[in-house]
Amino acid sequence: MRCLRPLASASLLVAASFFARPANAAPATDRNWYRNAVIYEIYPRSFGDTDGNGIGDINGITKHLDYLKRLGVDAFWLTPIYPSPQVDFGYDISNYEAIDPQYGTMADFDRMMAEAKRRGLRVIMDMVLNHTSDQDPWFIESQSSKTNSKANWYIWHDGKPNGQPPNNWQSIFGHSAWTYVPARKQWYYHAFYKQQPDLNWRNPEVRKAMYAQMRFWLDKGVAGFRLDAITSLFEDIALKDEPYLSGTNAYGDKNISRIYTDNLPEVHEVLRELRKVVEPYNAILIGETYLPNVQQLAKMYGKNNDELQLPMDTQVGFINKLSVADFRAKLNDAETKINGQPPLLVFANHDNPRVLNRYADGKEDPEISKLIATILLAPGGAALIYYGQELGMTDNPPKRIEDVQDPIGKLGWPKEKGRDEERTPMQWTNSVDAGFSTAQRPWLPINPNFKTINVAAEESQPGSVLNYFKKLIQLRKDSAQLRSGEFALIASDNNDVLSFLRKTADGKAVLIACNFTGRPQTLSFDLQSHGIQGKHLRTLASSFPNANPADVSHVTLPAHGSYVAQIEP
Ligand code: GLC
Repeated sequence: MRCLRPLASASLLVAASFFARPANAAPATDRNWYRNAVIYEIYPRSFGDTDGNGIGDINGITKHLDYLKRLGVDAFWLTPIYPSPQVDFGYDISNYEAIDPQYGTMADFDRMMAEAKRRGLRVIMDMVLNHTSDQDPWFIESQSSKTNSKANWYIWHDGKPNGQPPNNWQSIFGHSAWTYVPARKQWYYHAFYKQQPDLNWRNPEVRKAMYAQMRFWLDKGVAGFRLDAITSLFEDIALKDEPYLSGTNAYGDKNISRIYTDNLPEVHEVLRELRKVVEPYNAILIGETYLPNVQQLAKMYGKNNDELQLPMDTQVGFINKLSVADFRAKLNDAETKINGQPPLLVFANHDNPRVLNRYADGKEDPEISKLIATILLAPGGAALIYYGQELGMTDNPPKRIEDVQDPIGKLGWPKEKGRDEERTPMQWTNSVDAGFSTAQRPWLPINPNFKTINVAAEESQPGSVLNYFKKLIQLRKDSAQLRSGEFALIASDNNDVLSFLRKTADGKAVLIACNFTGRPQTLSFDLQSHGIQGKHLRTLASSFPNANPADVSHVTLPAHGSYVAQIEP
C-alpha cells in the first residue's frame, strides 16, 4: 500500500445536538442500509466531463447515474468537490459550504442529488477534518498574528532556539511537517502538504465550526461522510520526537514511526461527537482507517457502537499477493472479530495502485479482476468499488516527470511517481477520450487500453468483468445467504483455493471458491462438519463459462477461476 497513512486531550465536549429529526433525514426504517451496502467511489475529476475542459464535473456524474443504477450499487462517495486551490486535488478545501466552479455550481449539485434520489442512490461526501487549505479564511486569519480570533485554530509552536522546527515530525508527503510563518514567528504543523495546515482539534471552537459545516451538507440530504485522514486528528501535546526506523523513504527522509502523530486515543472522543452530529439524520460515517490489525479496526466502531459505522478495512484488500493463507486469516478477522459489526472491504482507491497492478500476473487479468470481485462482494459486510475497478481498469503511470500532476510524484520521482496512474479518466467507450471528455487533452492521459476495456464494450459481452460485477451485486440482493448469511472458512483438500461458506440459520448455504493459481484445480469439500447436509451445487455465478460441477466432492476450477453456488440436497 502506498504509505499515505503509515501505521502507527484534553477536550471540551461540544454539546450534543439532539434536535428534532431534520427534514432531509433518511427514513428510520432504512437505518441499517449500510451494513451490506455496495458503495462506489467516484473521483469527480475523472468521471465525466460535460463542459469539454478535460476535467470531470458534477454534470458528468449526473449524466452517468443510470450506469450506477444498472451496476446495482447502493451509494456513491465523491472525493472532495468543494472550492480548493487543488494542490491536493480537492483535499485542500478553502470553503466547506460551496462547490468548486471547476466542477459546477450548487444548482448542479442539487440536481445531481435529486436525480440520485430518484434512482434510489445515496450520496456520500468526503469530509476533510484534519486540515484545511492554507487559503481557507480560518487559516488566513490564524497565520496573521498570535492574537487574532483564530490564533489557536491550528497547531502553532515556537521553533527550537537554533532556528530549527519544533521537532522531527515529518509530513506524510515528505520532509518536515512544520512550516515557518514570519508574521507569527512560529511554525505550523501539517501532516500532508504545507498548503494543508492541521486544525487544532483540542480547540472546542474548531469542533463546533466543523460540525456546523457538516450539517450544511446533511441538510441537503447527503447519506453520510467519508472521513479523510481521520486517524491524524491529534498529535502528542508534549511534541515528543518520533522514533526513527531503519532506511529512508522515496523522498529521501529517514523512516520514522508515527506513534506521536497517528491514531492517538483522543480521536475516539471526536468520533463519538461526530456520530452525534450525523445520528439525527440517519447518516453514516465511513473512516479512512489504515490500521495495523483487526483489534485497532474494531475500536473504530466504538465500545458501544457509537463511533464509525464503516471504518475501512484495509487489511484484506491490501494483502497485495494471492496468498490463500493470508486471505483466510484476514478475511476471518474482518468477518468474525469486529463484534458483529459489518466490515467495509476495500481493495482500491484514489491513493493506491489499482487492483490489477497489485494482484495480476499480466496473463489472466480479467479472471483476476473477477477473483478480487468475488472476495470483495461474496463475504458479509459492505463493499467499496473504486470507479473502473468493475471494468478491470489498470494504472497508466506517467512516463516523464514533466507530465506528473500529483505533487508527491514530482518530489519522489522516480521512486514515487504519485497517484496520477490510478486516477486516469473513466473508460466509457472506445471513441475519443474514451467517452470521458471532448477535450484535446484530458487532465490525465487516457489509458491506451480503453479500446477494449470500456463500459460500452463490456456491457455487451456476457463474460466481461463488468457483467460479473453486476451479477454478484445482484446476487447480494437476491440471495438470503449472501445478504446476511454467516461467514465460515471451509477446510478443503486444496490449499491453492480460497473457499468459504455463507450460511443462514435455516441450514441453507452458498459455497464460494476462488482458484489463486494459474493452473486448473480440482477439489472436494467435506461440509458435514459445517452442519450442511446437501452436496449438489447449483451455480449462481462463475468467472468462467459452463461451470457445472456435479457435487461438492468434485469441483474443478480453471486458472484463477471463481465460483459461487447454492448447496442443495
Ligand atoms: C487522504 C486522501 C488523500 C489525500 C490525503 C490528505 O489520504 O485519500 O488523497 O491526499 O488524505 O488529505
